[in-house]
Amino acid sequence: MIDFWLGGQHHFPVDVAAANAFEQAYGPCAPVFRELRAFLGRAVRAMAAQGVDGFLVFGAGVPTMGNVHEVATDATVLYTDVDPVTIRLGQSILAGSDRAGYGFGDATDIGTVDPAQLHRFVPGWGRRPVGVVFLGLAAFLDDATLTRTLDELYAAAAPGSLLAVDFDTEELAGHPQALAMMGPQFRMRPPAAFAPLLGRWAPTADGIVPVAEWRPDGPPARVPDAFHGVLATRAGD
Ligand SMILES: C[S@@+](CC[C@H](N)C(=O)[O-])C[C@H]1O[C@@H](n2cnc3c(N)ncnc32)[C@H](O)[C@@H]1O
Repeated sequence: MIDFWLGGQHHFPVDVAAANAFEQAYGPCAPVFRELRAFLGRAVRAMAAQGVDGFLVFGAGVPTMGNVHEVATDATVLYTDVDPVTIRLGQSILAGSDRAGYGFGDATDIGTVDPAQLHRFVPGWGRRPVGVVFLGLAAFLDDATLTRTLDELYAAAAPGSLLAVDFDTEELAGHPQALAMMGPQFRMRPPAAFAPLLGRWAPTADGIVPVAEWRPDGPPARVPDAFHGVLATRAGD
């Protein structure tokens, strides 16, 4: 659905049908997801500017349309997801790449990431600073699981690593039919409720803000405030 809204070419008729049904209940989604992907781009560029040259991406979805390896063009990237269809699609898209790979990874259990892939595409994981991209996932994890997961990632990543993470605001509360389509696991959070879940990850001075307002390249786009994002740092030990 996101690939469809971003104008990509890696989706199926069932995705288009679901995207159209969701838009009937909510309204136009493309501008909202363009802003979320633009946030990913600015956050990844900011990490690369700090010297990060290896990225681990959780809940990656489709690795195109301005995704991490297309933004950080000198970096190596391991995309991971739990959905077998998405993983196969991602692997076929990246088949010719020696810089980006795709494999299984449950964000809530870093041990599920294939160590060989981790070693190859995020060299020095745990020993040198890397970028962790955690977008579009928080909404599907309860507070306890999200807190534990981010804390385990903090412990596993080397000091100086950076984390880009977002969460869904309460925007969909005003659209009950669309909200129902997200399923019973879907969680919306006010910004004040998200901050403590970051645990030891320290937000940069940019804070936790609507994604369109995170270091915007120009005047921020005026889109519904559906996602907030933050870049956070793993301090030294
Ligand atoms: C809303 S999509 C976000 C895709 C992409 N990150 C983006 O921002 O466009 C959420 C993705 O997370 C994946 N996912 C759900 N639970 C997960 C988990 N526990 N670990 C890793 N991926 C998960 C889904 O399969 C799906 O591809």
